[in-house]
Amino acid sequence: MNQTPIVLLAAMLAMNTAQAADPAARRPADEILAHACSGCHGTFGHSSSPTPSIAGKAEEEFIAAMREFKSGQRVSSIMNRIARGYTDEDFVAMGQFFKNR
Ligand code: HEC
Repeated sequence: MNQTPIVLLAAMLAMNTAQAADPAARRPADEILAHACSGCHGTFGHSSSPTPSIAGKAEEEFIAAMREFKSGQRVSSIMNRIARGYTDEDFVAMGQFFKNR
């Protein structure tokens, strides 16, 4: 008898349990998305470098900028590539996150 499906199911259940115990897995999804930006835009979007701060940016402005970066309408060597990795729902979630920081 082939027991592969049972072994796979057991492994998947074990992975689920491991994720639940990981504090990072309990963080809100929008905060996790925003962490990808902190290297350049600072913690929670508060930049201490020449890279612009995105904390407190109006949500509509933020979303418009991200859509323009993604489409290439606004040219940026860095942001065009970054924006392509996200969905419109991600832009909305991040826009809501950063506006209150
Ligand atoms: C590797 C560095 C880097 C990372 C990582 C990065 N950015 Fe940027 N970002 C920049 C630079 C540099 C600019 C400003 C220059 C430009 O417009 O190209 C910018 C500009 C922006 C702007 C426009 C700001 C304004 O006031 O016009 C937004 C919005 C933005 N980034 C959002 C994000 C988000 C959201 C993330 C994470 C998903 C992110 N960035 C990750 C470097 C980065």
